[in-house]
Amino acid sequence: MALIDLPLLMKDAVRGKRSAVTCQLKCASQCAFGECNSSDNPTFRDIASSALTRRTVLGGSTAALAIGLAGTQGALADPGSGKGKGQGNGNGRAGHRPPNGTKLTFEPIEPVDAAVDEFTVPRGFAWHPIIRWGDPLFDDAPEFDWNAQSAEAQKRQFGYNNDYTEIQEIPGTAGKRAVMFVNHEYTNENIMLPAETDAEEAIEIGRAAHGLTVVEIERKNKNFPYRYVQGAELNRRILLDDEFALTGPAAGSDLVTTVEDPEGRTVLGTLGNCAGGLTPWGTLVSGEENFHGYFRSAGTSEAEKRYGLRDAATSRGWEDKYDRYDARNEGYENEINRFGYIVEVDPFDPASTPRKHTSLGRFKHEGANIIIAEDGRAVAYSGDDEVFDYLYKFVSRDRYVEGDREHNMTLLENGDLYVAKFTGNSPAGEIDGSGEVPSDGAFDGTGEWLPLVVDGESQVEGFTVEEVLVHTRLAADAVGPTKMDRCEDVEPSLHSRRVYVACTNNSGRGTEGKAPADEANPRSENRDGHVVEIDEQGDQTSTAFAWNLLLVAGDPAQGDQTYFSGFPVDKVSPISCPDNLAFDSVGNLWISTDGATSGIGFNDGLFRVTLEGEARGRVEQFLSVPIDGETCGPIVRDQDRSAFVSVQHPGEDGEFGAQRSFFPDYDGQGPKPTVVQVLPNKGSGKD
Ligand code: FEO
Ligand code: CA
Ligand code: CA
Repeated sequence: MALIDLPLLMKDAVRGKRSAVTCQLKCASQCAFGECNSSDNPTFRDIASSALTRRTVLGGSTAALAIGLAGTQGALADPGSGKGKGQGNGNGRAGHRPPNGTKLTFEPIEPVDAAVDEFTVPRGFAWHPIIRWGDPLFDDAPEFDWNAQSAEAQKRQFGYNNDYTEIQEIPGTAGKRAVMFVNHEYTNENIMLPAETDAEEAIEIGRAAHGLTVVEIERKNKNFPYRYVQGAELNRRILLDDEFALTGPAAGSDLVTTVEDPEGRTVLGTLGNCAGGLTPWGTLVSGEENFHGYFRSAGTSEAEKRYGLRDAATSRGWEDKYDRYDARNEGYENEINRFGYIVEVDPFDPASTPRKHTSLGRFKHEGANIIIAEDGRAVAYSGDDEVFDYLYKFVSRDRYVEGDREHNMTLLENGDLYVAKFTGNSPAGEIDGSGEVPSDGAFDGTGEWLPLVVDGESQVEGFTVEEVLVHTRLAADAVGPTKMDRCEDVEPSLHSRRVYVACTNNSGRGTEGKAPADEANPRSENRDGHVVEIDEQGDQTSTAFAWNLLLVAGDPAQGDQTYFSGFPVDKVSPISCPDNLAFDSVGNLWISTDGATSGIGFNDGLFRVTLEGEARGRVEQFLSVPIDGETCGPIVRDQDRSAFVSVQHPGEDGEFGAQRSFFPDYDGQGPKPTVVQVLPNKGSGKD
């Protein structure tokens, strides 16, 4: 049996820019089956005037609470085997003056052709693998062997397709030790395993390469790259048969019970873990995104259809071995209702039970990012990464208590849930789908957080609280939110408290029978995506907000209709398909991309975007990942002139016997998804 049945790859059916392999393995070729959101939830219509202007958006509160989100606290990470190279290819397009006084100065690189199997950094920098797929995590873990991989080995090794990555210093280690948390979103068996691999063993290897990793990393000092520590105390793999506790109002409800868990409170495993966030109390949250691709179901109910579940063999075939991956089996009808949540993990307690929080709703969570509101409540933003789906906000019932970690770890268990509606302020006739900026000079307007659950009560007619939280998409449809162009990361800035939403792309926007362009999603057949900036104007718990588009992405040099907040389009790095977001210590936004290759024809990368001052909207490319790879994770420690990215699915369009990538070791074997640190040559300990 082939590891992944290639005829199942819907090469002709897949739309948009992703490769057929990516589509099948990552999201079960969801786009080939039509939009999940066929609701007649009214699409957004422009309103000609608004009291909230772009100027008010930009004038929001600058108060920042001293809490640690990615890019703002000093952690550092690791080092690697010294495979890094420093082949800068500066393009000189953008100014090199560092914005806002950051120490991370660099000459932007030229975009790299999509056929190139190289990791490219600016002149004067070097890259270093920290940890790769298959690296042994524990003292008893075997070394990786391309031709003898086993499930037992994989369970003790770093998993596949590292996506969200976060690093926190371990207190008391003088900045030398940190703990790293990594999502393993999915697997590419066709380039991981020889074709002759036993089919059942391949299933178990694949399952063991999913899940999560916690691993300690260390460095000599900030001038050296981090190195992961085999056998360290905090090292942990969280696997698909490990127990997760369900929390919140839907825990224990009839919607989540199965024959194996009649109490509806204990789920085995987590799936499709894409992005995530560091909580102010030092735990990690992780989004269960494309979970539907692992389950077979009758696919007949409204809920199943709305979540993309189908009566068809899955690409990995786990349902043939495990009853719980087939909702047609008696007693397992609800297993699919136990995935699609925000998961929380305490990386400092290897014995802790991870939790799935039903209060944040069930959908294809890209991830979640949390900020403490002005009144002390925790606010989490999360996008549903599907074309024409929605943006959500959670506001905790209880308040953050500085120093009370045990209490703070309960904050995501109860609270209010909202879904976003965007209203534009330009005449509808000026939003024609071309992406041309309307006459008022901005894609902008006001917005409203529409309530789904408030004070423990459902706000959606005909839905109980449990139904809202388990069938969240259906509940949201009923209240009329804005259909978005695939919300990926949604990240609040601790500098400005504005919130940034990466809308990665939507090739169906404005096509026949689909929602037309609107001011918040202004481009038909949106190939390259855009970034929304939200300002809640001093109250992160508010149900009203102002918004504008920071970027409409693309390559101006190729004639794409783009917008960079007014910054000259001939002075930016081309950028496409924004996915993950981070901030540096002085408030610049950093964007990693996924999918640029078949659009603007360049490999994906990491980009800095200036948000304040005359250079607002300037995009500068910092690095580029190898062929077929996606840039994930990003963590920017500009104080140390250092950045980290997870390189996901390099070379995924290859075959085991015909690899397309050999990153990061270039040893002629094949590619390994890898977490990479980039820092100056002079700080790399190499030269
Ligand atoms: Fe797994 Fe939304 O990207
Ligand atoms: Ca406008
Ligand atoms: Ca993503």
